[in-house]
Amino acid sequence: PKKEFISELMAKMTIDEKIGQLVQFTADGTITGPVAGDNFIEQIKKGNVGSILNATTVKYTAELQKMNLDNSRLKIPLLFGYDVIHGYKTIFPITLGESATWDLNAVELAAKISAAEAAAGGVHWTFSPMVDISRDPRWGRVSEGAGEDTYLGSKLAIARVHGYQGNDLSAINTILACTKHFAAYGAAEAGRDYNTVDMSERMLREVYLPPFKATVDAGVRTFMTSFNEISGVPATGNKFLVNGILKDEWKFDGFVVTDYTGMNEMIPHGYAKDEKHAGELALNAGVDMDMVGGIYMKNLKKSLSEGKVTEAQINDACRRILEAKYDLGLFEDPYRYNDAKREKEVTYKKEYLEAALDVANKSLVLLKNGNNTLPLKKEQKVAFVGPLISDEFNIIGSWAASGDRHGFAVSVEEGINKIITDKSKISFAKGVEILDKKRDMMQAAIDNAKKADVIVAVMGEFENMTGEAASRTNIDLPGIQKEFLAELKKLGKPIVLVLLNGRPLTLEWENQNMDAILEAWWPGTRGGDAIAQTLYGINNPSGKLPMTFPRNVGQIPLYYNHKSTGRPYLGKADNEQKYKSRYIDVDNSPLYEFGYGLSYTNFTYSNFKISSPKINFNQKLKATVEVSNTGNFDGEEVVQLYIRDKVGSVTRPVKELKGFQKIFLKKGEKKTIEFEISSEDLKFYGIDMQFAAEPGDFEIFVGGTSATDMKLEFELVK
Ligand code: IFM
Repeated sequence: PKKEFISELMAKMTIDEKIGQLVQFTADGTITGPVAGDNFIEQIKKGNVGSILNATTVKYTAELQKMNLDNSRLKIPLLFGYDVIHGYKTIFPITLGESATWDLNAVELAAKISAAEAAAGGVHWTFSPMVDISRDPRWGRVSEGAGEDTYLGSKLAIARVHGYQGNDLSAINTILACTKHFAAYGAAEAGRDYNTVDMSERMLREVYLPPFKATVDAGVRTFMTSFNEISGVPATGNKFLVNGILKDEWKFDGFVVTDYTGMNEMIPHGYAKDEKHAGELALNAGVDMDMVGGIYMKNLKKSLSEGKVTEAQINDACRRILEAKYDLGLFEDPYRYNDAKREKEVTYKKEYLEAALDVANKSLVLLKNGNNTLPLKKEQKVAFVGPLISDEFNIIGSWAASGDRHGFAVSVEEGINKIITDKSKISFAKGVEILDKKRDMMQAAIDNAKKADVIVAVMGEFENMTGEAASRTNIDLPGIQKEFLAELKKLGKPIVLVLLNGRPLTLEWENQNMDAILEAWWPGTRGGDAIAQTLYGINNPSGKLPMTFPRNVGQIPLYYNHKSTGRPYLGKADNEQKYKSRYIDVDNSPLYEFGYGLSYTNFTYSNFKISSPKINFNQKLKATVEVSNTGNFDGEEVVQLYIRDKVGSVTRPVKELKGFQKIFLKKGEKKTIEFEISSEDLKFYGIDMQFAAEPGDFEIFVGGTSATDMKLEFELVK
């Protein structure tokens, strides 16, 4: 019935009405660039708008929908899109933090809750997941992604799509997901947002595209093109990418939207001579919807009359958009997502807030814990300092949709106060601001810290220092936070540094001088509770880094799955050797590597075995390892499996993640963990660009970090 329904409807539509479906306007809310200034209300009434961006709440979306249904000729429901990135009202950790959980169920649940809340608020469509792999922490948008790894990124992307879309899009608690930004946006030169990308097709297909493909296979219904050019062609006019790879090769049958004015931006890119030309390039590339740029609305009919685009192309784009509306159930009931009672009941539900706490707890990464400084003991006298200690505004982080920055958001101070009833044991004094270099508060905080047994400094970035258009060339702790830490250090007391930030930072000095470091990202609405529970050992940290923390900016890009080079630097033993691929002023190694993260307990790996030293293309290799909790706490560990293909028709990375399992072990408990590897997992784009495994020798590694050296060897034979 869907096909017939849409065919019948389209048979009634004029060309203007069809083009109208391809048009999205922004209502109000976040504006992330210049917008074509057409009066969207008048356009809605004329039936010239298919979708609205940034309109939320049952009341407002119902008002706009009514205006559309009452006035437009064919009464085609509007589609409401909004950036629900890590929560709608109940905010989960920023996506990078959520990715540090390595917990696919938790991530799927977060997306499911976000969808339920957003749908109850009148939203039909989120612009998430962002699946851009990035190896550059200068790029502000790493906070919205899953980090540097293709395998982990693909698994997380699938979990998010399942969470948002569920099994039934017409259900009242699911929404359309949108995979973005297609493609290679995270590879912007020098980490500067919107900057140029130039890379080989092999790199594109092997490193950057798999998470996109994974979401197509998971049934994602929409895609967004990226702002960048790739090897000379802007993504929004890129036929090879959109029609070629996405729609023809991967058989994607949903619709593709531009990123904001990405279509218009093909003019300054130097790819389109004017807006009309940009629209033609975009439609010919396979872009179905124009987000706020106004180009399709103003020019497409003329382009059609000149034969620059075809009616079949417009029909195809229109059909894809109408199908999404149909699947959401909007033709059956355009107000399906407009139930004020449900909105009230669903928003900030108790169980959602509990899930936000659980995910936040799982997202924290313990980077250092000298002398078991953590967990703190309730009897200890603790001085809490730092600009983010009582700051609830920043705790939910950047791009936090409709999340309330005051009220529901829990600051660290609030979280601590819930746990520590004896107030004589705790004190709070900021000492410094994040950016402001004034020193007038410092001495009071230092004097206060003198009276404590332990100092906890909560520091980091402002939420607006990452996200879109927030690239940095210096990724140290901003302002005079480090200077303040140096003053505190003089007191000779143990110092715990808790970090709230949206990207890997350069923390060499902090690593040398702080006793413990807890990476808390921006942990969301219940963030203050999660930090407090973790500091006091109610939660045992289990997060692992989804992205490498470099020692300094000069090492960037720095990532675990790099190539060997012909003169690999093999660590300290190579120190006397000058002619090696290395720096003369800093080690090649990162400060904290991908996959790294400590726990309050210890995990010991032993008895690593594989089922056979040889497998053929139809066999599976079984790898087993025993993991024991040998410390003093119950805890969770992410057991990671990596492989290295030793020789290939093209060179292969020194290690590649091929599996992981997050396990819980009680104190003293031991479990045998099993992985399976087949030739499917060993495929890559060989010299002939065929995606295939090649016979030969492989190393297989297992451990709790990418730096593991517990390895065995096997051979893949014909
Ligand atoms: O979804 C976003 C995108 O990630 C960046 N530009 C604006 C879009 C819509 O708000």
